[in-house]
Amino acid sequence: MDKFNVVVTGQIMPAALAAIQERCQVKQWEQAMPPQLDQLAGWLEEAEGLFVSNKIVVNEALLAAAPKLRVIAQPSVGYDNIDVQACIDRKIPVSNTPGVLVETTADLAFGLLLTAARRIHEGWDWVRAGKWQQGSSLPLGVDLYGKTLGIVGMGAIGAAVARRAQASGMKVIYHNRRPRTDQAARGAEYRPFNELLACSDFIVVLTPLTPESSGLFGIQEFSAMKPTAYFINAARGAVVDTQALYKALTDKQIAYAALDVTDPEPLPAEHPLIKLPNILITPHIGSATTETRNRMALLAVENLLLGLAGKPLVTCINQEVNYC
Ligand code: DGY
Repeated sequence: MDKFNVVVTGQIMPAALAAIQERCQVKQWEQAMPPQLDQLAGWLEEAEGLFVSNKIVVNEALLAAAPKLRVIAQPSVGYDNIDVQACIDRKIPVSNTPGVLVETTADLAFGLLLTAARRIHEGWDWVRAGKWQQGSSLPLGVDLYGKTLGIVGMGAIGAAVARRAQASGMKVIYHNRRPRTDQAARGAEYRPFNELLACSDFIVVLTPLTPESSGLFGIQEFSAMKPTAYFINAARGAVVDTQALYKALTDKQIAYAALDVTDPEPLPAEHPLIKLPNILITPHIGSATTETRNRMALLAVENLLLGLAGKPLVTCINQEVNYC
């Protein structure tokens, strides 16, 4: 039986690759740097399935280079790198992987908050530099207990962060396009955006990147926050105006930032943000555990194989074209 032609645009979990190879002829980009479109062009011409790794941009130009494409699968919940309308126009179903990374990403977001508040990373640097023995002391951290956490983007991950915060004795407020009425958000109070900015001690951003949320946090928003506020971004870098954040941190409009995502990404080693004393940055590792990355990759493979077989995908972001 003929195998489907599939292009994989970067590294993927070995179990997922094996599952694709069982049913498909695979061309995989194996270099560390993500591919440019012209480097993939020859492969895309014959591709029936595309497994998006490396967050490559899926736009009109890529789709035009892949006339036989029947399905696109990406192992991530965010899909801001994909032109969904262009895929709808070409009747190509696209899948993401919601659900399977919720608790893992919530751990990282809350972990960033806790690490920044209690200066855990700075303490370890201190010990490693031999400063403990010299009797000098670290700057003090701040408590979580009794403080207010404001969550911007109260989806499944937001609700999982809220549970962790409530267990630490924090009051949780949130902002969404509209208030949630379900059980998952219980105990958390809805607030208008400006009110949340003004009364939160910690702000965790989890909103997806869309045209509306792009640059949502700028000069005005940082100046509306408490000067003691901690700002945590575990969503997408472009939700924040990086220059405005830099200014807010240097002018002490806010106290501290902890970021798992940045704009640009990856952040160049010489970027001014990295030199600040009041920031903690991790390299977009929200879902980066072996178990979760396997779950994400296998769900993406399931969608890929369904799409190739002409069946509806399990987790499809453009339902309009999710039919056989
Ligand atoms: C996601 O799944 O969108 C996470 O940010 C990891 O990329």
